[in-house]
Amino acid sequence: MAPVRTLVGLVEEKILESSFIRDEDERPKVAYNDFSNEIPIISLAGIDDVDGRRPEICKKIVDAFENWGIFQVVDHGVDIKLISEMTRLAKEFFALSSEEKLRFDMSGGKKGGFIVSSHLQGEAVRNWREIMTYFSYPIKQRDYSRWPNKPIGWRNVTEQYSEELMSLSCKLLQVLSEAMGLDKEAVTKACIEMDQKVVVNYYPKCPQPDLTLGLKRHTDPGTITLLLQDNVGGLQATRDNGNTWITVQPLEGAFVVNLGDHGHYLSNGRFKNADHQAVVNSNSSRLSIATFQNPAPEATVYPLKVREGEKPVLDEPMTFAEMYRKKMNRDLEMGMMKKLAK
Ligand code: SIN
Ligand code: FE2
Repeated sequence: MAPVRTLVGLVEEKILESSFIRDEDERPKVAYNDFSNEIPIISLAGIDDVDGRRPEICKKIVDAFENWGIFQVVDHGVDIKLISEMTRLAKEFFALSSEEKLRFDMSGGKKGGFIVSSHLQGEAVRNWREIMTYFSYPIKQRDYSRWPNKPIGWRNVTEQYSEELMSLSCKLLQVLSEAMGLDKEAVTKACIEMDQKVVVNYYPKCPQPDLTLGLKRHTDPGTITLLLQDNVGGLQATRDNGNTWITVQPLEGAFVVNLGDHGHYLSNGRFKNADHQAVVNSNSSRLSIATFQNPAPEATVYPLKVREGEKPVLDEPMTFAEMYRKKMNRDLEMGMMKKLAK
């Protein structure tokens, strides 16, 4: 078997290795730094002040989930020093030698660790990225042997980061529950016990960025995702029913909030699960940290609220594990069909 390589060697090549080359229809349409300011930016300052700004902020959040499914939050209460420590240490992790990173190699189905170009689901074309991932909630399922212990101090910082992002997510999910006219814990209860997975993405400079993607178009499967990105740019979302791509403007210290498929189904389709992708460039590497808030595998996926005159968007309830498996199988089948059609 060929040795696993990190992307380091490939960055120096002039020509992109063919396993990364996408079909024309999948290639980037808009530049990584052609920023749009259309995606809503919402300040959460005062969100806990029930007699003050809370109703106004909640309305903005609900509008953004209904119209976009993706938006940015600022003044979110997560310590800015913690955010910059997390970013600094994550960058240092990816700067470690290939041998050090591959000590956490998670190929072969290991839960958490390091992998090159996320060839996880056997996709036909590889994503131009390296990832480090770990499972942070429920706490009893933490497997510290899969968390990087380098650079020094990262484990402590990631623990704090996970905790703060868990509470920020719960706050946003309370707003969604209330918007559906339900008890404010309804969405978190529907998750049974909320899982949290952190995926740190490193997109090295790419020799031919127009031919490939850092991460192909997708919706997130879970309830909600909070994404921290550096100032390079590369996250793209769609508007006009998925027909136009726009590049999300990076904002220092902000989180991009994304609703996933689970959140979409719980709301009977009222809140959007945003299509998004990451493009790469030849000028600089890029870092993003995605915190996925997912329901427990056995949690039921089915609308919590079906409004008058509406039909449920799902024929029958299924578990989150089943929903996830179906999604992955669909993706694989689509990839196979594309390959066969060539
Ligand atoms: C993701 O969708 O998980 C990551 C997107 C990004 O890196 O911008
Ligand atoms: Fe995503």
